[in-house]
Amino acid sequence: MCWKLLDWDTCFFCVKVARIFPEEISNSNLSSILYHLKESGVDLVYVASNNALDKSILERFGGIPVGQQAEFSMNLNKENVAEGGALSDVVPCGQQTLTANLKNLALQCGHLSRFSVDSNFPKEKFEALYTTWIERSIEKKIADEVLVIKRDGRIAGFVTLKKELGKGIIGLFVVDKRYRGQGFGKKLMLAAIHWFRTVGCDSVRVATQVANKPACSLYTHFGYTITNVSNYYHFWLKDT
Ligand SMILES: CC(C)(COP(=O)(O)OP(=O)(O)OC[C@H]1O[C@@H](n2cnc3c(N)ncnc32)[C@H](O)[C@@H]1OP(=O)(O)O)[C@@H](O)C(=O)NCCC(=O)NCCS
Repeated sequence: MCWKLLDWDTCFFCVKVARIFPEEISNSNLSSILYHLKESGVDLVYVASNNALDKSILERFGGIPVGQQAEFSMNLNKENVAEGGALSDVVPCGQQTLTANLKNLALQCGHLSRFSVDSNFPKEKFEALYTTWIERSIEKKIADEVLVIKRDGRIAGFVTLKKELGKGIIGLFVVDKRYRGQGFGKKLMLAAIHWFRTVGCDSVRVATQVANKPACSLYTHFGYTITNVSNYYHFWLKDT
């Protein structure tokens, strides 16, 4: 199967959503699958492709480019990251209730996300998505830990962490605008790596938009390397 219906997205966005895996199909088959999905009543299709898609397919099926996503990964077996920074500055979140402070930071995290870039999504939906993400993370439903750094009595930044099959995954990672450029991001990343090592992860991965220069630069600075770059598209089939 080179496509699948996405139940969670369909329920959340109130439009029928599917995803195509174009790396598994030839370019010529892409239009026939999009045609089939349109005939089946699918409203929106996500496509992540290593290659840029033909303009003609985009025009025919209401496709819009919504950014390039880079996946970064780093091996934790090697002593490739300096330990011993100010880890004490970063602590577990420890709260399970969503606050305006946490919500505000989560929204800052998604400023370049495809759900923000694609104006077909109402702003409220983008906000609800990132609010749900941090809410379910602090409840430990989709994250194992949330580490925070505090300043002036509030949370100035956080990182969400998950261990899956022995590998570490960073979900959300953000420093409040007013505290950026002061080394808080480095402190959070150092503490995240320490946490992953402590729970026995042999590697850690994180994804961000290629356009997100501060994040890409920070990951590279820590020794992460890019393992994949995908061109993301949203096909809004309804009006085609
Ligand atoms: C990415 C982010 C967490 C960095 O936090 P920060 O506290 O400003 O980062 P630091 O001050 O610790 O800087 C660490 C490194 O990040 C990189 N960096 C930070 N700001 C940068 C900028 N404006 N331009 C380029 N590189 C930058 C640099 O490599 C820097 O190291 P250096 O100071 O030795 O050059 C912050 O910019 C942020 O919250 N952005 C919005 C949310 C986001 O994009 N999250 C990541 C993807 S989900």
